[in-house]
Amino acid sequence: MWDYTDKVKDYFFNPRNVGEIEDADGVGEVGSLACGDALKLTFKLDEKGRIKEAKFKTFGCASAIASSSVLTELIKGMTIEEASKVTNKDIADYLGGLPEQKMHCSVMGREALEAAIENYHSGGKKKHQLEGKVVCVCFGVTEKEIERVIRENDLTAVEQVTNYCKAGGGCGGCRGEIEKIIERVQGEKPKAPVIAAVAKGHKLTNIQKIQLIQQTINEQIRPALRGDGGNIELIDVEGSKVIVALRGMCAQCAMANITMRDLVEAKLREFVSDDLNVEEAKDLAD
Ligand code: FES
Repeated sequence: MWDYTDKVKDYFFNPRNVGEIEDADGVGEVGSLACGDALKLTFKLDEKGRIKEAKFKTFGCASAIASSSVLTELIKGMTIEEASKVTNKDIADYLGGLPEQKMHCSVMGREALEAAIENYHSGGKKKHQLEGKVVCVCFGVTEKEIERVIRENDLTAVEQVTNYCKAGGGCGGCRGEIEKIIERVQGEKPKAPVIAAVAKGHKLTNIQKIQLIQQTINEQIRPALRGDGGNIELIDVEGSKVIVALRGMCAQCAMANITMRDLVEAKLREFVSDDLNVEEAKDLAD
């Protein structure tokens, strides 16, 4: 059973704006029944060029219905330019978050909106088409779309990319290529200030050390745990002792000790200092 927020449940059980506008100004259709999710979004503008009505029809799970419904509410009252800036994160945030494995539903909403805006600009002629090289044949996902979800959501693992756009979730034949795209896109990012300070060989203050531990958790450890439905929280730092709490699936995992040693401690020693020891918060409470 997925851990849905109350807002997701509300929009799933009471979806707003279901249906299709007959004389719509913009129509966007994305996904396919064969891939398990499909969405048709239609909108109508008022005389001032603002979206006065938006409706959706979707085939998919609770998250797909909730994401599509929220999207129609979000864009009402917006100009086309404002609507073109709506991201999948806006949709997920409005819902109070989605399980990471369901983030592709919010991405499908953003894609349908883009397709509808494109259709509007073409005077109703243009239909959504895949642009550029298709990397994942199983789900019809292009290189451009994979790059985009990585950039917009700061993804660092293939499993995350699969959660956000389904690429890699079928035969697995494209996973190597997705890995290379992640490396390339992440490699374009400028190094964060603290990592840069370490790279230059500067001695860290205590505050910088804690920042670097947090940064390593955010960028190196959490993405790996999230791929398995887990998470991690930094509780405290006492000298060379780093106290953390595992959350989600990781909290109940029989392999938690190995995760702590081979992932959490290993990464913190690699990126911060090789004298660090990691302890789990719950052990301290016993
Ligand atoms: S080609 Fe991407 S999962 Fe099959």
